[in-house]
Amino acid sequence: MKAVRLHAFHQPPVIDEVPEPAIGGPLDVIVKIGGAGVCRTDLHIIEGQWDAAMGTPLPYILGHENAGWVHEVGSAVTNVAVGDTVILHPTPTCGLCRACRAGDDMHCVASEFPGLSRDGGMAEYLLTSARACVKLDPQTRPQDVAALADAGITAYHAVRKAVPLLYPGTSAVVIGAGGLGHIGIQALAALTAATIIVVDRNPDALKLAEQLGAEHTVVADGGQVAAVRDLTGGRGAEVVLDFVAEQGAEQDGFAMTGRAGSYFVIGYGGTLTIPTLDIISTERNIIGNIVGTYNDPIRLTRRPTRSPTWTPAGSAAARFSCPSQPSLPRVQFPPTSEFPAGQRRADGQGTAIQR
Ligand SMILES: NC(=O)c1ccc[n+]([C@@H]2O[C@H](COP(=O)([O-])OP(=O)(O)OC[C@H]3O[C@@H](n4cnc5c(N)ncnc54)[C@H](O)[C@@H]3O)[C@@H](O)[C@H]2O)c1
Ligand SMILES: [Zn+2]
Ligand SMILES: [Zn+2]
Repeated sequence: MKAVRLHAFHQPPVIDEVPEPAIGGPLDVIVKIGGAGVCRTDLHIIEGQWDAAMGTPLPYILGHENAGWVHEVGSAVTNVAVGDTVILHPTPTCGLCRACRAGDDMHCVASEFPGLSRDGGMAEYLLTSARACVKLDPQTRPQDVAALADAGITAYHAVRKAVPLLYPGTSAVVIGAGGLGHIGIQALAALTAATIIVVDRNPDALKLAEQLGAEHTVVADGGQVAAVRDLTGGRGAEVVLDFVAEQGAEQDGFAMTGRAGSYFVIGYGGTLTIPTLDIISTERNIIGNIVGTYNDPIRLTRRPTRSPTWTPAGSAAARFSCPSQPSLPRVQFPPTSEFPAGQRRADGQGTAIQR
């Protein structure tokens, strides 16, 4: 089969001809890939940032946000069958450890991370496990939803953690309205009452942010910390979601966070340097975020309870739409008129996101 493999750090990946994966265990599942998203993490992998953490021998196949159709199943697989349309949680997990039993898939003590720790989904076929498969409506097009498998659930998971902090009158700052951030904005608009402020270097990304629900946008041109202070009455924001967290954005993010506020680190690559006195005297929280749970892709792709016009193929796209935006390196979701981008529904209907 054809596969996109990384042979050396700081070198572009190469399309190779490689053997197809084979079922090795009773709970293994092989998926025929229909869509594999490109995440900035793939660029971080190419930069070598994950080498120390994963030590994955090169070459290996990239791709950790995948969707497709079940191609072959192990002898004990009962939750999916050949031909099912599936989106994949990024980590096949053990199902037996305390984290798995608590639903904290990302903290499983015996998990794998295809695309980071072994061969991923930028290929014709991917080896995963029964536990990672989320069955979708058969009419769903995998390429429409693949990016929800990682980018989508990461943004959604972080926003869900912030929901209790974002009551009416609060402000949430999104730094970086790219592949993850543009979904984070929509999740904030759907799930919270906060005023949404979006900071990005790219004016096109800010235009998209406005369409998706941002009340204020700020170009990151050096004056972004002061601009956020102004927009929050000098206080700083209750929540900052940093989808960049490198090249200085991490210092900006902490500086934009108000007293007793929370700074959510989602992007990575930078180093946060903060005097501990600043942390205790202002009681600011710094919160790490790693991908999401098995239930997050279910919540992102399920049919809304009250939406007579819902079409199965657009279930995820209806929720999180991304109008064609060539400057954003992400799988494009077709826009829909069903849930107009950025529209807030005071009655909660139409969003259908589980709270
Ligand atoms: N925590 C996790 O579990 C997790 C999961 C997936 C991805 N990530 C990380 O999240 C980050 C975002 O990934 P993505 O795929 O959305 O990237 P992306 O390239 O699609 O988007 C990044 C956006 O940030 C903007 N930007 C860049 N530098 C900026 C700055 N200094 N200030 C303001 N805006 C700036 C860019 O213009 C772009 O719009 C990456 O670091 C990625 O590796 C983390
Ligand atoms: Zn990713
Ligand atoms: Zn486990």
